[in-house]
Amino acid sequence: MGLEKPRQGISMLISASVFVCISLLLCTVDAQLSIPAKYDGFVYKDRRVHDDTIVIEAFLDPVCPDSRDSWPPLKQALEYYGPRLWLLVHPFPLPYHDNAFSTSRALHIVNKLNASVTYQVLEMFFKHQEIFYNRETYNKSKQSVDHLIGKFVAEVLGKDLLSEIESGFSDRKTDLATRVSFKYGCSRGVTGTPFFFVNGFPLPDPGSAIDYKGWKNIIDPLIGAQSQGR
Ligand SMILES: *[C@@H]1O[C@H](CO)[C@@H](O)[C@H](O)[C@H]1NC(C)=O
Ligand SMILES: *[C@@H]1O[C@H](CO)[C@@H](O)[C@H](O)[C@H]1NC(C)=O
Repeated sequence: MGLEKPRQGISMLISASVFVCISLLLCTVDAQLSIPAKYDGFVYKDRRVHDDTIVIEAFLDPVCPDSRDSWPPLKQALEYYGPRLWLLVHPFPLPYHDNAFSTSRALHIVNKLNASVTYQVLEMFFKHQEIFYNRETYNKSKQSVDHLIGKFVAEVLGKDLLSEIESGFSDRKTDLATRVSFKYGCSRGVTGTPFFFVNGFPLPDPGSAIDYKGWKNIIDPLIGAQSQGR
């Protein structure tokens, strides 16, 4: 009799583990099935990819200070190398930044309404991101923060688009698009922001900004190797 209880406990534990495994399996299968119709991310300045283009992918969180700090030097490199670089930014909302998902979603909303200002809005988030930090919005409802984000975004997009921006926050498609961005980052092993890939390969030191000199040190040898046919 004395053994009865622990055994029961163990079998319950096993059932629980099996349940967790099955749930994880179902989640994974679900993630694998949902291939988006379009490649995730926002292309910088509508540039094109050619044979010798160096492809940079950046996973950035609009309310992450390190993502913010990483943007000016990367932008400087984009200006310096011109069409040799092709950038795709994927929003990657970190779960410990309370408004990361909504601000990332706002980027998808903006990109749908007018793709030519997506990067301008991203820069605005970086410039004023402290408005949306955890402590600043701790007492606010999600609805009021989304409203605040909508008004913030309308400053760039045009105040006449405020109602379209706000309805974007109740459009399931923009919610799903933001989830795709997140899941895509997870599928590539992104664990923090900023996180960069160059020609498909991850750069070391994820989570910290790379300065302009750092970008030159990464890109110059690639261009040199290309011109030597390697
Ligand atoms: C998108 O934004 C740009 C820059 O503000 C503006 O010139 C253009 O007219 C806008 N396009 C649309 C479709 O609203
Ligand atoms: C949040 O509410 C509490 C209690 O009302 C108040 O003490 C605190 O200062 C508020 N914080 C912010 C950031 O508004």
